[in-house]
Amino acid sequence: MCGIVGYAGRDRCVEVLMEGLGHLEYRGYDSAGLALQTEGRIERIREVGRLENLARTIARRNGDLSPLRTGVGHTRWATHGRPTEENAHPQLGGNGTVAVVHNGIIENFAELKEELQGRGFRFRSETDTEVMAHLIAERVDGGESLREALAGVLRQLEGTFAVAALSAGEPGKVVAARHQSPLVVGFGEGENFLASAVQALLGETSQFLHVENGEIVEVTDSSVEVFTPEGEHVERESFEVDWEAEAVELGGYRDYMLKEIHEQPAALGATLLGRIDVDGAVDLSEIDLDFTDTDRVVVVACGTAYHAGLLGKHAIEKLARIPVEVEIASEYRYADPIGNESTLVVAISQSGETTDTLAAIQEARRFGAKVLAVTNTRGSLITREADAVLLTKAGPEICVASTKAFACQVAVLDLLALQLARARGVMPEEALREAGRGLRLAPEKVEETIQGLGERVGEAAAVFEAARCSLFLGRGISYPVALEGALKLKEISYLPSEGYPSGEMKHGPIALVDEYCPVVAILGDGVVREKTISNVEETVARGANVIAVAREGDRAAQRISGVILPVPEAPELVSPLVASVPLQLLAHHVATDRGLDVDKPRNLAKSVTVE
Ligand code: M6R
Repeated sequence: MCGIVGYAGRDRCVEVLMEGLGHLEYRGYDSAGLALQTEGRIERIREVGRLENLARTIARRNGDLSPLRTGVGHTRWATHGRPTEENAHPQLGGNGTVAVVHNGIIENFAELKEELQGRGFRFRSETDTEVMAHLIAERVDGGESLREALAGVLRQLEGTFAVAALSAGEPGKVVAARHQSPLVVGFGEGENFLASAVQALLGETSQFLHVENGEIVEVTDSSVEVFTPEGEHVERESFEVDWEAEAVELGGYRDYMLKEIHEQPAALGATLLGRIDVDGAVDLSEIDLDFTDTDRVVVVACGTAYHAGLLGKHAIEKLARIPVEVEIASEYRYADPIGNESTLVVAISQSGETTDTLAAIQEARRFGAKVLAVTNTRGSLITREADAVLLTKAGPEICVASTKAFACQVAVLDLLALQLARARGVMPEEALREAGRGLRLAPEKVEETIQGLGERVGEAAAVFEAARCSLFLGRGISYPVALEGALKLKEISYLPSEGYPSGEMKHGPIALVDEYCPVVAILGDGVVREKTISNVEETVARGANVIAVAREGDRAAQRISGVILPVPEAPELVSPLVASVPLQLLAHHVATDRGLDVDKPRNLAKSVTVE
């Protein structure tokens, strides 16, 4: 997805914009550009491809851009028009006196463009953004301030967007606004910042302010002013983000995915800290919600977060005995869902920005549900739509493939299950505490798993060399783990992979099985283990090469598989976390063996903020 950075301050504008864009690279982009104010003009530089290309072009300018103090930068993920220099942002309006960068989609751009063309405007790009640039410039040329012009144009636009603009006639000022796309202001000393995500500015500041839907913000070196669309001042508290700048650096790992897999024990530790004591008692008093009348839980989420939700269902139903439905947010939002004030809707989103999950919350609001957001991003859009928030404390997740955020989402749902069970008094206190003490072991068990895998991941990855597809099988709590394993593999290695409950194999998918379709079996524990083993045996009989996620020395696993990915014995709430680790590392290994960029898989972006 696109990224925005803005700056007003000292003569380090280019440096701040480029660094900030660098921190947003993980979101995916195909071109980049800057617009800078200089002596009554706007200087624009754009390049297709990586930020390095833009950096080289800047370097060729022999430092003539270095003294400049105000500007905006953008990384573009092509939506309207191909990834060319003409379509890269910033887009200029009028005769180059206004520059605009924009995330999101303007849905009515075609009509607006036609109308502008009818009035003689000449377009140089295929973007929807250029429409906005011309509309703003026209108003500025007509005597409006940049802020007034932006406010006026926003009234004409339909869609979702965050936008930042410069006018040659208003030196030292960046003006920005948003509608459904995120935008934050960062505070500095003698300088202030703007960005579409806090990650862009972590090296510069920890003090942020959110721009709300429809608001306009004016940023100079010494002031940040927020206005309503009607031009009235808005007072807003800033908030602090406690993520370290180093958290967005690689720190010796070959890529972010590997780094984030290894960060899981620490992330789980941070997520559980202060929420569960040594005796296993859970304290989620941070969420000011009364669960006494909750008779049904609906989880809404997308992708990996949806899989975390499936695991949450197991925990909540088992411990709290409340029925849970887990819904894909993009389906739920259009499903005319049923519910009432006693329904608790849990919306899970690492980024807190995913459009479908936000829309699902709005649907739930329609019937009066209580909404609890589970997110990794303090102050994100989802936190402002919800009645209460449970933060996962995974730290910034840069890699597109979600790993540590998934682990923390599952842990938070387990905490919620324990809290709900306690509130409803459906389980003896000591049994709940025992489950809680088990959950506290998550960081160490996940660490033990990472350490114990060694060479096995490489051996398992070798099985995929000639594969044309693969199947991930599990039952019970191992089924969501299978789904997540298959998603990770297909997402970063582009190998068709399916996750299935192993009991469903004989109802169709077994037709896929042969020696070129490796089967990854998550054996698990409990009543379904033997059943899973029998199902996997049927695949062995059809020539499958099987990889088993099981305990080291497990006789049945040795019999049915060529490679065991060993996992330690773990308490029930922790076992899906432990079983996910080898699958994450396997996907990473298969993708890197294929020479692929695991952090930025093709066609994907870190968060999906457009429909
Ligand atoms: O930011 P969100 O948690 O709302 O993102 C939801 C999905 O897009 C996300 O989990 C996606 O499936 C993962 N990146 C896959 O690894």
